[in-house]
Amino acid sequence: MTDRHRPEPPSAWWRDAVIYQIYPRSFADGNGDGIGDLAGLVDRLDHVADLGVDAIWVNPIYRSPMADFGYDVSDHVDVDPDYGTLADLDTLLDAAHRRGLRVILDFVPNHTSDRHPWFVASRSSRTDAKRDWYYWRDPAPDGGPPNNWVSAFGGSAWTLDPTTGQYYLHTFLPEQPDLNWRNPDVERAMHGVLRFWLDRGVDGFRIDVANFVMKDPELRDNPPAPTGASDYRPLGAYDTQRHLHDKNHPDVHEVYRRLRRVLDEYPGERIALGEIHVYDWADWRVEFARFHGAELDELHLPMDQSLVGLPWSAEAYARMLAEIVAGRPDHAWSSLILGSHDETRVAARLDPVRARATMAILLTAPGTPVLYYGDEIGMAGAKVPPHRALDRWGAQTPDGSLGRDPQRSPMQWTAAENAGFSPPDVEPWLPIGDDVDTANVESQRTDPGSLLALTRRLIRLRSSHPALSRGEFLLRRDVPVDVLAYERRDDTERWLVAVNFASTAIDIELDGAADVVLTTGVEATGRHRDRTLGLRPHEAAIVRLSTPTGSA
Ligand code: GLC
Ligand code: CA
Repeated sequence: MTDRHRPEPPSAWWRDAVIYQIYPRSFADGNGDGIGDLAGLVDRLDHVADLGVDAIWVNPIYRSPMADFGYDVSDHVDVDPDYGTLADLDTLLDAAHRRGLRVILDFVPNHTSDRHPWFVASRSSRTDAKRDWYYWRDPAPDGGPPNNWVSAFGGSAWTLDPTTGQYYLHTFLPEQPDLNWRNPDVERAMHGVLRFWLDRGVDGFRIDVANFVMKDPELRDNPPAPTGASDYRPLGAYDTQRHLHDKNHPDVHEVYRRLRRVLDEYPGERIALGEIHVYDWADWRVEFARFHGAELDELHLPMDQSLVGLPWSAEAYARMLAEIVAGRPDHAWSSLILGSHDETRVAARLDPVRARATMAILLTAPGTPVLYYGDEIGMAGAKVPPHRALDRWGAQTPDGSLGRDPQRSPMQWTAAENAGFSPPDVEPWLPIGDDVDTANVESQRTDPGSLLALTRRLIRLRSSHPALSRGEFLLRRDVPVDVLAYERRDDTERWLVAVNFASTAIDIELDGAADVVLTTGVEATGRHRDRTLGLRPHEAAIVRLSTPTGSA
C-alpha cells in the first residue's frame, strides 16, 4: 500500500455491485413495432430488480441512423425515436432509482455519425470552424489514403470526401468519423454531453472503445503485427498490423483524468466503466492497468474482457484470475464480463452445465461482474439467416460468420410467439432463438433448478457477503489439476470457490469445518462428508470455511 493512492470511500458502490447490461433494441418492445424501446424496458424492470443486481448499463439510446445500431450518434442529447423520447428516459431513471437500481449509459467518444451536425459542418469546407473537429488529411502522393491504418470493420480507415478532396479518418464504419480529441473544443463539447446526462440523474457511463480516442499526433503508419500476435476476435486485415499509432497514445490518460474530474463534480460517485482494447498481448496488462490512473484518478472500472473465450481448463482460469488481480495497481478495481453485444454468448460457447459453473465464477470473481441480458436464462442467441443479417461487422466476411446479430437477438420472456418480446403478429427486428421453449424467463421463474434461479441465488449470496465481492482473492494450488479453487476472504469471513473442470467427479479435501452453501449441479446437494467435498463433473461449489482467517 502506498499513500499516493487516495483511499476509496467505503461507500464505493461500484466495487460490490453487479451490473446488468441491456441492449435496448432487444430487451422489450413497448409499442409493438418489433424494436425494443425504453417503455418496454421500464415495464420489465421488475425482472431486473428481482435478479438482485445493483445497476443497469444500457447500450446507446441516442439519436442515430443505426449504421452500427446506436454507436453512430447523430445527436448526443436526444433519444432516438426507435427507443422513445427524453421523457421516457426520465421515466426510466425514476423507475430504476425507485427500485434501487443505478443507471449507466453508453458514451461514445471516439466517433460520431456522419450525419451528426458537427460532421456535416466539418465536411462542408476546408475552412469550416468544425473542420478540425475530425481528422482530415490530403491524399498520399499516389492519391491513396494518407496512411496505412485499417478500419476494424475492414478496408482502409480513410474515406475520400469529394466535396473537399481530402480523406477523413474512421476507425469503424465510414459512417462513423473519428472525433479529434486534441481539439479542446471537441473535449469541451463532449464534457457538455456528459453534464447533460449527469444533470438528469444518470449514475455513470460505459465508455466505448475508451483507449481509441488519442492517436499518434503525426499519424504515422502502423508497423506489421509481430508473428504470433493475437486478438480477441481475429478481424483479418485489422490483425495484420500492430496498433501502435492508431489508438492508445499516452495522451489518452489526460483525457480520462479530465473526464473523471467532470464526474467528480457530481455527488454519489458517478462512475466511468471503460471498454479497453489492447491488441498486443505483450503490452496488454500494463496498458490496461494505466487506465485506473496513476493516482486512481481515471476510470473507476476498466472492463476486463479476458475471461471471455478462455479455454475450458482449470489452469487457464487460474492463471487468468491470478493475472487479473496481480495486474491491478493497489486499491484499483476492474469489471469482468463473460459476454456482451460484441461476443458470442456463453450458452453458445458452453453446454448448460458448464455455463452454470461459469456463472458461479463470474459472480464470485474478484471484479465487478457485468452480466449480459439473457445470459441469466442461458440464451444461446438466434440463428440469423443471411437474408436477416444486419450487423455490418459481419458483412465483411463472405458468410457473415463474424456478425454480432446472434448475441443481440430479442430477450426471451415467454415461450409464446415472438417470446413475449413483441406482439405475436409483429416480426421482431432480429429472429428469436431456437431455445425459446426452455430459455425463457416465465418457465425458469418457478423452476428452482433453472439457471435463472441459480443466478439469483449467486447474486444474493454475493450481495450479502462482502468477502465474496471485494474480499481478498487467494488462489489455492493444493487441489487436483482439473479443479480451479480460490478463496475470497475479509476480516470476518472466508469462502472457498471450487470448480471441477473434468468430466468425471472429483473429491477435494477441506482443511476444516465447512458449510457448502451452494453448488451449481442441478441435483440436490449433500455431497459433503467430513472433510471431503465431492464435485460432480463441471460443477462449482461455494463453501463457507469456518477456519479463522489467519494472517496469510
Ligand atoms: C465498441 C462497441 C461495439 C461498436 C464499436 C464501435 O466495440 O461495443 O458494439 O461496434 O465499439 O463503436
Ligand atoms: Ca418498439
